[in-house]
Amino acid sequence: MEDKKKIILDCDPGSDDAIAIMLALFSEKLDVLGITVVNGNRILPKTLENTLRMKQFLGSSVPVYAGCVEPLVCNLIPERKPELPRVTKNDCHGDYLKLPEATIGAEHQHAVNYLVDTLMESDGDITLVTVGPLTNIAMAIRMEPRIVGKIKEIVSMGGGHIACNISSSAEFNYWADPEAAKIVMDTPVPKVILPLDATWKACISYDEAKELERIGTPAAKFAAELAKLRIEGLKVNDVSEHNFELRHTPGTVAEKVLYRYDTDRAPIHDALAVAYCIDPSVVTELVDCNVDIDISLGLCDGRMVADVHNTLKGSAPVTAKVALNADSGKFVQMLFEHLSKTVPVK
Ligand code: BDR
Ligand code: CA
Repeated sequence: MEDKKKIILDCDPGSDDAIAIMLALFSEKLDVLGITVVNGNRILPKTLENTLRMKQFLGSSVPVYAGCVEPLVCNLIPERKPELPRVTKNDCHGDYLKLPEATIGAEHQHAVNYLVDTLMESDGDITLVTVGPLTNIAMAIRMEPRIVGKIKEIVSMGGGHIACNISSSAEFNYWADPEAAKIVMDTPVPKVILPLDATWKACISYDEAKELERIGTPAAKFAAELAKLRIEGLKVNDVSEHNFELRHTPGTVAEKVLYRYDTDRAPIHDALAVAYCIDPSVVTELVDCNVDIDISLGLCDGRMVADVHNTLKGSAPVTAKVALNADSGKFVQMLFEHLSKTVPVK
């Protein structure tokens, strides 16, 4: 039998994080060693409570570790937040997931120590799946640089090649802690980045959410509720999280973005990162290129730059693959299949 892929999921629930957690814990192909939680969509006490609510709801035994309560340094820089305008006005998350309050707790160890210890003791066979700001991962790299040789791969939802959602140029996860994102991107470990360009290609529609609801399991019904919350959240947003089409002109470098505002569907960003770990063919276009993060405080602050034109011309080894397209049918089928289960693998 094929070995399960060992993962540690780093998250900040978050409605799409919650669906990512379900997908991960119901997958027979993944061995979720632990879930580490970070400040992001909400402050850490809330993202932690939401993670524990998910663990309790699913009856899972996965250990949960509380991580960093603040980004590395970005809140110390006056030119940054909260002055930067948010493009999006929608809230697809809410403070707390609508589940019973958690009566269980997190592990005592800090998430960063857990990451360092677990990676150092490993055979180099652990994939880090990140679906929130990269604070915990960057801090672990700074605390114990030897973990770099122990990380099999980082699969990370974040950034946008052409798309953005939090400013005119940036995506939320990398923007929320740009220095952390830069540390991780500059680290020479294999990375697969799932930016908004790919996650917007793997949306769930309102009709599909209703179909999910009809499956009738607690997980399917809850995920359907979250998916509808996300679709509704995008509807009230005047400029929308950019719902776009990316068109490549074959044989040229020209790309055209067509913005569309039909919002009867929504991406479940974070779940695509987990889906990719379960079945990489859910991503249909992966470009080998290096990735950088802008930390210059200007309009591009927090923006991911995917060097698709190879401007570095081989001066740096290419360590990233950036997803630009996804198979929405396959993605939604994966959700249906996994969320129809009632007992998590862990
Ligand atoms: C990312 O930002 C968060 O709001 C979501 O949970 C996701 O991880 C998308 O930009
Ligand atoms: Ca998230």
